[in-house]
Amino acid sequence: MALKGTTSCVLLSLLFLAFATNSNAGKIAIYWGQNGQEGTLAETCATMKYDYVNIAFLPTFGNGQTPMINLAGHCDPYSNGCTNISNDVKSCQTKGVKVLLSIGGGAGSYSLNSTQDAKSVATYLWNNFLGGTSSSRPLGDTVLDGVDFDIEGGTNLHWNDLARFLSAYSNEGKKVLLSAAPQCPFPDAWVGNALDTGLFDLVWVQFYNNYCEYTSGDLNNLEAAWKQWLTIPAKKIFLGLPAAPGAAGNGFIPTSDLISKVLPVIKGSSKYGGVMLWSKYYDDQDGYSSAIKKYV
Ligand SMILES: *[C@@H]1O[C@H](CO)[C@@H](O)[C@H](O)[C@H]1NC(C)=O
Ligand SMILES: *[C@@H]1O[C@H](CO)[C@@H](O)[C@H](O)[C@H]1NC(C)=O
Repeated sequence: MALKGTTSCVLLSLLFLAFATNSNAGKIAIYWGQNGQEGTLAETCATMKYDYVNIAFLPTFGNGQTPMINLAGHCDPYSNGCTNISNDVKSCQTKGVKVLLSIGGGAGSYSLNSTQDAKSVATYLWNNFLGGTSSSRPLGDTVLDGVDFDIEGGTNLHWNDLARFLSAYSNEGKKVLLSAAPQCPFPDAWVGNALDTGLFDLVWVQFYNNYCEYTSGDLNNLEAAWKQWLTIPAKKIFLGLPAAPGAAGNGFIPTSDLISKVLPVIKGSSKYGGVMLWSKYYDDQDGYSSAIKKYV
């Protein structure tokens, strides 16, 4: 009897453990930086709504160009006006939020013309935003957690080289997180090759402005594309969505549909990472992340 009691107790604990580790709770990633009206980075993290913040963007780099960040109305990088964001990054990290620099974007001037060029850009990113040193760090002395590849133009060459060079810096102490924001058609025209390296930790697929997103009541396109994305050698795949109807041309999913129809279909995979939202500004408009947080 006593033995039986112990056995069932152990079994129950095991069951509980299995259930707890299987719960597969997702995370929320947000883009911040392209609208001066979206609050500061520190305020963004203080909401405790987000697990990852991508600082958008570094839209100019490569091919011999002087790299330049653009944080819209937040600060003026030309007069070194963004260096005090350093404190905001630190306050985010203290709260457990990972902060990445998003390179590229929908409207930028970027490309890599050779493996050597990819190496130069990696060195620049390391010295100016990660663990290296430089006298002109655009966001001050803070060490970001990683680099996000939001490559939507230029050419599809050498992004795999850039991923390899950046990843190699992980050996110098702190892990350099690598994320990417490909479009939902599979494989991605720009960073498909880079993703094949298997070096990406987080891949937030943009399920909007395309033909593979959710359309009212119809999950087929989204589900078919999602299954393809699960096959890439990345650790976690996120569902990337517009945070409000105005945030993209199409692809907005009402929170009730997301919770009742979409999440149940995509949460089953161990590669499911959560939801990425474009952007903090739009999330402020309708409270999207707050509405979905406990279901993600
Ligand atoms: C390629 O990029 C390098 C910088 O890495 C630059 O010096 C060079 O001029 C570029 N080559 C061409 C052909 O544009
Ligand atoms: C950084 O400095 C600018 C100009 O002095 C100021 O407007 C801004 O609020 C500061 N930002 C932070 C995060 O401290």
